[in-house]
Amino acid sequence: MVALSVNSSAPDYDVIILGAGAAGLFCALTAAQRGRRVLVLEKANRVGKKILMSGGGRCNFTNYSVEAENYLSSNPHFCKAALKRYTQWDFIALVEHHGIAYEERKLGQLFCRESAADVLAMLLRECESAGVDIRTKSEVHRLESSCTEAGRTEAGRTAAGRTEAGRTNAGQKDSANDSLRQPRFSVLVSQGPSGARQSLSCGSLVVATGALSIPTLGGSGLGYDIAKDYQLPVLPCRAGLVPFMFSDAMKPMCEKLSGLAVDVCVSCNGQSFTESMLFTHRGISGPAILQISNYWHPGDSISVNLLPDDNASQWLLGAKRDRGSVKLKALMQEKLAKALVTELQALWLPALEAPALAECSDKLLTEIGSKINVWRLKPSATEGYRTAEVTLGGVDTAMISSKTMEVKTEPGLYFIGEVLDVTGHLGGYNFQWAWSSGYSAGLFA
Ligand code: FDA
Repeated sequence: MVALSVNSSAPDYDVIILGAGAAGLFCALTAAQRGRRVLVLEKANRVGKKILMSGGGRCNFTNYSVEAENYLSSNPHFCKAALKRYTQWDFIALVEHHGIAYEERKLGQLFCRESAADVLAMLLRECESAGVDIRTKSEVHRLESSCTEAGRTEAGRTAAGRTEAGRTNAGQKDSANDSLRQPRFSVLVSQGPSGARQSLSCGSLVVATGALSIPTLGGSGLGYDIAKDYQLPVLPCRAGLVPFMFSDAMKPMCEKLSGLAVDVCVSCNGQSFTESMLFTHRGISGPAILQISNYWHPGDSISVNLLPDDNASQWLLGAKRDRGSVKLKALMQEKLAKALVTELQALWLPALEAPALAECSDKLLTEIGSKINVWRLKPSATEGYRTAEVTLGGVDTAMISSKTMEVKTEPGLYFIGEVLDVTGHLGGYNFQWAWSSGYSAGLFA
């Protein structure tokens, strides 16, 4: 970090936002609507790539039910203030205002009816009408901040002033405050194919560079590097909302069943999700698996209940009593997919050909029933950041104001979105966090 002397000339921008993803764009339009001169720097050739890819191209942009319980963080209370300040209802109203058709799929999840591009276009329209300057192919390399004692003191005072202004003028034009015009940060950015470097100054700097998941969609560790430069703790990161892989007998079984989806209840470390599970060439995926992956750590087993609505042992024993001549496999196929039953029989009963229920001991049927309800699987790994929808961990919220997203020790510096240690469940919660945290910072930056 290079210290600048306090520069009394006006900064190039009031607010520079690093990253034109969901959080960065939302923060930009919010700050610009207050009359702030806003620049967004995006390293990719286009903005909002994850928005476009999200929800299978339909963007699950929020959820009818958003609670702090839908988020993982070392401080489970941190997300509350922002989620309350800008709610799912606010975002739904914006979507409706722009005439975007949407639909509820399941569990309150709201998707665009046409295309995720509608949400991105909406954000860009709002940015444009508020006068946001967006530069793509602009990779940020380094930050510099004024860090003389005088600079810090002045910064502290202006931060307090800004807080008041933000609170009273939310949504209205902020009157230009001379004290805000102090350039506090300088951003070194390379632009275009030539990579020409330029230094740009601003009064407020918002880090919205996202996290490590899917590097081809912009995943980057820049936000963590910036946090470390400012002595902010960064909690260990790992891939979240991500499929599992296997190296044991499950591997060939998953390959054979690839493409099959089954409704299950999957549990790990005290959490359970009842949704569908998909077998893939590499292992297992689908909503239930993505959800539980947030709670899984290497070495953990997961428990899959293949018949969440039944006590499978009682069902098998009852059938033996009533219909003893029926083959076990045929009975299991009444409730489970044929291909799955074939694989389960080979896995659990390799020595038995095709026994009739009457030929199976009660002990054996009880054991098989238990396995149907509690099928213990030990993933060897997740697919990692290459396919993970999110990154767990990140910038520790302990040093961030939950009301403004500003760093408590560095007035004018903000962190929003996925770079923070706040990760949502599957179901529109991660975008809602991006909108809500972006909005909060946009009111104060
Ligand atoms: P995001 O990653 O969106 O944006 C960060 C931006 O910063 C990127 O544009 C990146 O290029 C830029 N950047 C990084 N380093 C930079 C540098 N050095 N200089 C300049 N710019 C830099 N969530 C949800 O709620 N519903 C859904 O349907 C889905 N679906 C989904 C599908 C897929 C395939 C993925 C990968 C993820 C989802 N998500 C999701 C998660 C959601 O996309 C994610 O939580 C948000 O995009 C996070 O928003 P951010 O703005 O924080 O980061």
